[in-house]
Amino acid sequence: MAYPIRHLKPDAYDKLVRLWNICGLTHRPKGRDSREAITEQFGSANMCFLGMFDNDRLIGSIIGSHDGRKGWINRLAVDPDYRGHGLAAQLIASAEQYLNDQGITVIAALVEDENTPSMAALAKAGYEAWEGIVYFSKRPSWDD
Ligand SMILES: CC(C)(COP(=O)(O)OP(=O)(O)OC[C@H]1O[C@@H](n2cnc3c(N)ncnc32)[C@H](O)[C@@H]1OP(=O)(O)O)[C@@H](O)C(=O)NCCC(=O)NCCS
Repeated sequence: MAYPIRHLKPDAYDKLVRLWNICGLTHRPKGRDSREAITEQFGSANMCFLGMFDNDRLIGSIIGSHDGRKGWINRLAVDPDYRGHGLAAQLIASAEQYLNDQGITVIAALVEDENTPSMAALAKAGYEAWEGIVYFSKRPSWDD
């Protein structure tokens, strides 16, 4: 199945949040996922928000970002109606292409260890899990 993957524009915000919600991804409306914050991120030179579409329906998303040294993929999501057809693999490949085009060849992703589908999708795409790494973060309470 081939569905187009496009760079999202700020007017896709509502569709993006809906997709994240139906995919069980946390939405932080007061923090980095607010409309204002996401709109600002859309304009960032170091980030891409990619969306996969079935006509007008947003059926997949991924964010690629980097700090000039290492890249990250986040918010990999495929609408439950469309899973199991290799679409996550296509989204990962598109985010990797964006990062490679920016000169970034080391790419990482954080996944909760009970998230079997995501771990499997990343492993299939060639990512290796690293044992013995603990994730530290510092954040305000409204952006938890
Ligand atoms: C993770 C997710 C994006 C996978 O989407 P998908 O389009 O179904 O994945 P794909 O069809 O591209 O699968 C790629 C590989 O992942 C594996 N995989 C996908 N879903 C799986 C599942 N439920 N159980 C086991 N393995 C699975 C398979 O090995 C598959 O390879 P195959 O084609 O050889 O079978 C989707 O399940 C999702 O949106 N989950 C909720 C959101 C989420 O948790 N995102 C991660 C945030 S870090």
